[in-house]
Amino acid sequence: MMERNDQINKVALIGTGFVGSSYAFALMNQGVANELLMIDINEKKAKGDVKDLNHGKVFAPNPMHIRFGTYKDCTDMDIVVICAGANQKPGETRLDLVEKNLNIFKTIVDQVMESGFDGIFLVATNPVDILTYATWRFSGLPKERVIGSGTILDTARFRYSLGEYFNVAPRNVHAYIIGEHGDSELPVYSSASIGTIPIKKLIERNEQYNVDDLEMIFTQTRDAAYEIIESKGATYYGIAMGLVRITNAILTNENTILTISAHLDGEYGNNHVYVGVPAVINRNGIREIIEIDLNDEEKMLFNNSVNVLKGILAPYFG
Ligand code: LAC
Repeated sequence: MMERNDQINKVALIGTGFVGSSYAFALMNQGVANELLMIDINEKKAKGDVKDLNHGKVFAPNPMHIRFGTYKDCTDMDIVVICAGANQKPGETRLDLVEKNLNIFKTIVDQVMESGFDGIFLVATNPVDILTYATWRFSGLPKERVIGSGTILDTARFRYSLGEYFNVAPRNVHAYIIGEHGDSELPVYSSASIGTIPIKKLIERNEQYNVDDLEMIFTQTRDAAYEIIESKGATYYGIAMGLVRITNAILTNENTILTISAHLDGEYGNNHVYVGVPAVINRNGIREIIEIDLNDEEKMLFNNSVNVLKGILAPYFG
């Protein structure tokens, strides 16, 4: 990895649609990156976003230099964030987007690598686990430097819904969604807690809570995107904030645990796949995957989710 001046945090964003432009806006308001390069095949739109964001610079907590660029400008970027590609239409699943977006990604990743880029890829486009695996294969970068947004948003939705149910702030809810960022994802209730109290114990102690509600909370989490897409055509604020969370963990060398899409190399008894798992994130990307305890049902559901993803990968990557 090239020596870097850690004082300058440089991020390139590829795809300035709903998700990409929301990410740029959130990144600017959180003030960790020093430079943001915005790339899109629709130059006019990207240049308009650059202008629009720069006009808010006076209000930003820290100066972030934003400019329009091309793939050639990715050479010394710390992170390249990919939000480009087709997104879900009402009634479409994330997996329906595979063919279209794999072709787009081959072009994007090849051109970024031609610039001499030697940093970290952060992938958001769906199906994110499949496209993160593809980015790893197309780029040839080490697996720890190719990260997908994975189930970071699902976990955030889950923590929000559990917080509403138990009337506590989401930051006090410790619970993960793992697996595919999609229909086969699963909640890890066996180790979920509020503060340090296991959720199952909390329910036993308080008759106002009902264990049957937990299933409803999970299905609300899993199906949230379909509802939002139905009502407003796309989702973008939540995922954009999740991408900024990962970006900040990398740029500040935070060593924080986030449920992102990581390459399994034997962890959880699986390999040759990218899937949502808790992992420690720092300046070098994924420091390590955290293997949380799963009960038998969670193990079965996780393996099912991995197999769903492997089934999609097989025709393209063998
Ligand atoms: C969602 C998109 C990011 O879950 O897949 O909102």
